[in-house]
Amino acid sequence: MRFDVFTLIPESLEPYLQSSILKRAAERHIVEFHLYNIRDWATDKHHMTDDIPYGGGGGMVMKPDPVFSAVEEVTGTPPACPVVLLTPQGRLFSQAVARELAVHPRIALIAGRYEGLDERVRQYLVTDEISIGDYVLTGGELPALVLIDAIARLLPGVLGDPEAPQKDSHAENLLEYPHYTRPAEFRGWEVPDILRSGDHARIERWRRDQSLLRTRQRRPDMLEKAVLTDKDREFLAKQLES
Ligand code: ADE
Repeated sequence: MRFDVFTLIPESLEPYLQSSILKRAAERHIVEFHLYNIRDWATDKHHMTDDIPYGGGGGMVMKPDPVFSAVEEVTGTPPACPVVLLTPQGRLFSQAVARELAVHPRIALIAGRYEGLDERVRQYLVTDEISIGDYVLTGGELPALVLIDAIARLLPGVLGDPEAPQKDSHAENLLEYPHYTRPAEFRGWEVPDILRSGDHARIERWRRDQSLLRTRQRRPDMLEKAVLTDKDREFLAKQLES
């Protein structure tokens, strides 16, 4: 899958994309990252990418022409792939949205400065607007990395364990069960006996129960969307009694 990112600060994304799992995914040609500086498409002599707002008021607004030129030159006119604008006004990003975007062979991401982007970019170039949460960042670069990371790890071959994306927190609207590794006792705190019992069926049931409990305690909103078996419901009901 190819990601084309349009930003005024491409150097801010490089270190993360060139580290660890994403670096390895690019080396294996599962993903391709292309970073573009919108300023390279500014046509005036000072390479200005913003200007004063019509109607007055403070702040500057990102000019439409360098953004249109950059995205169209790289992705085609009209663009041959989804063009996603990162903005707090967008639809909320989630595991479901990551899965939805992961089906595309290519996506373009526009990381604007939040203060202002000429509305015509939104209206006539962008095909999707996404927010990573109800808070305001200084720009869309971190949100672009969040999308890339969440999408890339869903692609076959990116993670060592091919089952990992199905086991994730949020994959089935359940939080993950607690994990333990050696030592069996650390500072007097012991790993639950059942995990050392070797009884795989009981371990699996314990993990499922822990997921259910955790989700009910921390994210009851998620539990409402989860698909539960009769055994799950029985367990949860019994817990409420005790
Ligand atoms: N740009 C600034 N804040 C943002 C947010 N919360 N999500 C996406 N893009 C943003």
